Formats: sequence, structure tokens, C-alpha cells
Amino acid sequence: MKKRALTGYRPTGYLHLGHYHGVLKNMLQLQENYDCYFFVADWHALTTDYEDPVKISDYTRHLVTDWLAAGISPEKATIYRQSDLPEVAVLALLFGMITPLGWLERNPTYKEQLRELKKRHLQTYGFLGYPVLQAADILIVLADVVPVGEDQVPHLELTREIARRFNSLYGNYFPEPEALLSEFPRIPGTDGRKMSKSYDNAIYLTDSPETIRTKVAGMFTDPRRIYRKDPGHPEECPVFALHQFHTEKAEAENIKEDCKKALIGCKECKAKLAENIIEDLCPFQERRRAIIEKAPDIAEVVLNEGLKKVKPLVEKVITETETRMGLKK
Ligand code: TRP
Ligand code: SF4
Repeated sequence: MKKRALTGYRPTGYLHLGHYHGVLKNMLQLQENYDCYFFVADWHALTTDYEDPVKISDYTRHLVTDWLAAGISPEKATIYRQSDLPEVAVLALLFGMITPLGWLERNPTYKEQLRELKKRHLQTYGFLGYPVLQAADILIVLADVVPVGEDQVPHLELTREIARRFNSLYGNYFPEPEALLSEFPRIPGTDGRKMSKSYDNAIYLTDSPETIRTKVAGMFTDPRRIYRKDPGHPEECPVFALHQFHTEKAEAENIKEDCKKALIGCKECKAKLAENIIEDLCPFQERRRAIIEKAPDIAEVVLNEGLKKVKPLVEKVITETETRMGLKK
């Protein structure tokens, strides 16, 4: 029996190269080795984006289509949408009864986000309860492992604590899911900072070749290389960093040496990078196009199938939980 792995993704934007080299590659590996549950965390998107929610359903559809185009298979993984499962909300509510406020207030991710997203009003019940909802996501399918990046470790620790507390109060039922710590490579955006939608520096997986050329042409380079004749420092250049993901090793090596000796100009270097990114994204974009052409509502179809697949399991877990908590006999 394969172990059960679960991961969720918040539909707050389009996927970019950072996701491609990080989460997407990771999900592709997971689906080969685990019984996978991949879901769209649209309630979680609301915890931070409740003031501007109009795009959540579009992002959801876009995200699921991207997953499919990237090779995530609805046969190998169960793909569903959080808000299609009222059982998750019920479990979160029940977990809320046994989760001490201190656990939530002390959560470092919570404190950090409050600081970082200052512009939004996040002093809400929903935002404080983010990890409780996440615990419900994870435990509603009795997941064994949760692949996470470093930033999600505190959330997973809370899930384990909630499971432990439940088990000690009502008898052993929930697993204590383990973190499968994934090292996501740092992909720089066009300005050299980490690629992120919120920095407006991302190259999206669905960007057209023209857009990619324009974005790459405008990228920051080695700040010390002011004139064409100046020798460059490729290891300090975001363009070169991307070459390492999109250019063959030998060619990247040449670019590196040529840059150091001022034998290649930044314009030419960027032009090469742009073409390589376009080429790398081509199969993904073609598959995406073909998928949509065949079935424009593919995302909805996949989400509905996934829903049917998880439903019996989540119903069973809720019944068991309610019984243990004295609500049902
Ligand atoms: N908090 C996760 C993130 O921001 C998204 C998420 C919600 C999640 N529920 C989850 C991840 C359950 C793993 C398991 O990326
Ligand atoms: Fe960066 Fe390329 Fe210019 Fe060197 S030649 S500084 S690697 S853009």
C-alpha cells in the first residue's frame, strides 16, 4: 500500500517559472510514489484575498489546467477543490473547539504574514484560523505525509499537535502526518529578487513568446557590468541564474566564461535565454492548448471527478469524528 500524500495550492495567481521548477516538478514525482491528493485551497485564498475575490474561480480553473498540462494525472492523483467539500469546514470547526488560541497566536508564519501583508486587514478570525483549516485539509483524508517548503513547517507542526490533542481526548484516530521537506530551488525573477507574483517580476508559464522576449530583455543583469567591454560576474546575474535552468550545461558554461571575458554582450545573452525558455515551455503550452481545445471545461470535469473520488472517505472521517466527539451515536 502506498502512503497517502496531500498538498494544497492557493489559487491567488497564475503559475510561473518558480512554480515550474519547484512545486510542479515535485508533484510529478509524488504522483509516481504516493497515493496523492492534490487540492485547490480556495478557502485559504479567501483568508488573505477576501477583499478582492473575483478572480479565485478563474485562478482555480487556470491552476488545474496548468497541473494537467504539466503532466499531473487525474488517474494517479485525486484532484479536487476545497470549497466543494463542506466536510472540511465541519472538521475545521470541530478542531477549533480543541485548539488553544495561544498555539495560533504564537505561529511564526502568522506573525510574519501579518507584518508582510500590512496593506491588507488581516486581523480576522479566518486568518488566525488558517492553520486549523489546514489541519482539517490534511486530516480529513488521513494523510501520512505532506510535502512542504520550509515556510509551511510550523503549520504542519500545528496539524500534528491538533491530531495529538484530538487523539488524547477522544481516542487514537488521526495520524500525525509527517513533513516531506522539499528543497525548492530559488528562481530569480526579472529584477533579481525571488520570482513572485507580488513582486511583479514573474515569467508565467502561459506567457507568449513575445512577452517572454520582452520580459527577459528587461531583466536586471550584473550591476558591476556597466559597459559592453566590462568583464561580467555571471554568478551575480539573474540572467545567468536562469540560464542554469534553461540552457544546456556546456552552453551555459561557455556563456559564463564569455561573460567573464566580456566576449558576449548582455543583449545576446538575454536573447539566448529567452529562446531557451520559450523552447522549454513549448511542450507545456502545446499540451495546454490541446487539452483546452478538446474540452474547454476540463478543469470543472476533473474537479468533479476528484470530488466523487474523495467524498466517501471524507464522509467516513466526519462521521467517525462526530461520533468520537459525542455528537452522534
Ligand atoms: N498553506 C499552503 C500554502 O500557502 C496551502 C495549503 C492549504 C496547504 N492547505 C494545505 C498545503 C494543506 C499543504 C496541505 O502554500
Ligand atoms: Fe548577465 Fe549574460 Fe550580461 Fe553576463 S552577459 S552579465 S550573464 S546578462
